[in-house]
Amino acid sequence: MITWKNIATHTYNRYSGNAEMCAVLSTSGKLYPGVKVENASFPLTISEFQSAIFSCLSEGDKPEILYIPAESEQSVPQIWIDTYNLTVEYIAEIPNQPLGTNLTELPQDVRKHLIDLQQFCQIAESNFPVSSLLEVEPGRFLHGVNIELTDWQLGLCAERTAIAKAISLGYRDFHSIHIFAPKGDFISPCGACRQVLVEHLPYKKIYLYHPDGTTSEHTAAELLPAFFNGNSIID
Ligand code: THU
Repeated sequence: MITWKNIATHTYNRYSGNAEMCAVLSTSGKLYPGVKVENASFPLTISEFQSAIFSCLSEGDKPEILYIPAESEQSVPQIWIDTYNLTVEYIAEIPNQPLGTNLTELPQDVRKHLIDLQQFCQIAESNFPVSSLLEVEPGRFLHGVNIELTDWQLGLCAERTAIAKAISLGYRDFHSIHIFAPKGDFISPCGACRQVLVEHLPYKKIYLYHPDGTTSEHTAAELLPAFFNGNSIID
């Protein structure tokens, strides 16, 4: 049974202390919690709507109802309602429905698994698919794919979709991330993703699966030298 109280504890609100959350019920009757995921660089903060809706879409599921806590004064930006044809309900208790997200073991053929996940990418704008596998417990993974809207600023990269999904489900310590894109010479997380990766797994392995069949290993701290550290805001 998922409760607002429980989802509130997942909010990554290191800088504001405010809990912002919602949940999506999909057409297949599955629940996807979504919390706000703040970032030291405030404009890179992921909204609770992105977290919940993109968690649902990344599983190949279709969002139908957007639940908001009854006592919340938060309003839902119309763009989310219009884009996904959502019904919004302010409710005190979340219906007892199963979660739509499952952990997976690292498959033997990681590259093939990352390729298979790309069926869930929503890439009408770029036609550039990206998929990721985030290690949320030792040996156990959640996936992310890139999701685009006509308003480019509202979409998320595959890396950030996985992080938003994982944090919304209550995971905080990440052990590695595997990232794949089939186009180009050398795939590489974008600057915004580096800033988010450095916030959540600065020194853990980032495995990149390049289109030519090779892989490379990095850390977010190496990819973003002298990164902006959130401690400077809190101190
Ligand atoms: N993209 C990712 O998913 N990860 C990256 O690190 C680079 C960019 C996506 C975002 C957008 O959907 C498309 O690729 C083009 O920028």
